[in-house]
Amino acid sequence: PRPILLTRHGESLDNVRGRIGGDSSLSEVGLLYSRKLASFIEKRLASERTASIWTSTLQRSILTAHPIIGFPKIQWRALDEINAGICDGMTYDEVKKNKPEEYESRGKDKLRYRYPRGESYLDVIQRLEPVIIELERQRAPVVVISHQAVLRALYAYFADRPLEELPNIEIPLHTVIEIQMGVAGVQEKRYKLMD
Ligand code: F6P
Repeated sequence: PRPILLTRHGESLDNVRGRIGGDSSLSEVGLLYSRKLASFIEKRLASERTASIWTSTLQRSILTAHPIIGFPKIQWRALDEINAGICDGMTYDEVKKNKPEEYESRGKDKLRYRYPRGESYLDVIQRLEPVIIELERQRAPVVVISHQAVLRALYAYFADRPLEELPNIEIPLHTVIEIQMGVAGVQEKRYKLMD
């Protein structure tokens, strides 16, 4: 059975600064992950005749895929991180201080809360529909290099997690989550490539 390999991009400069959204590049640590990921993928998919690498259109995702050679890469806008609208580029502390009402509403209902001029988790789930259809249609393995909120939605779909739990699922950096869909149901393995 064909695996789906899910990973966040390597640590970005905005991750280091604690800023949400943005389109920053990778930190040194993030660059190291991109190389570790490439050698992991090379070994893991060595026996596969075909496979493809799917990224978002954001720098940190594209740069994480960069060292992987030998497989076609596809950029999906639908894999871009949740759009934080007017809060894009802020830290959580800045949101709390400058937009206390927004901070509070999000805390009350993270799944349905929509950032002004941005998106909610429900919006993200909806825009992922074509990606999910395409993933299910694939006969070969797919490596998805995306972002925290988007991967929560994809993971919840494949691992059959309840909607209410979805916005708080832990998707750590520098870890590959492998999902296998077989006759016996869904199996999951995690590979922590770096601390
Ligand atoms: O902090 C990294 C990040 O990908 C942000 O860009 C994004 O806004 C956030 O995670 C999503 O996580 P949460 O919904 O928990 O704020």
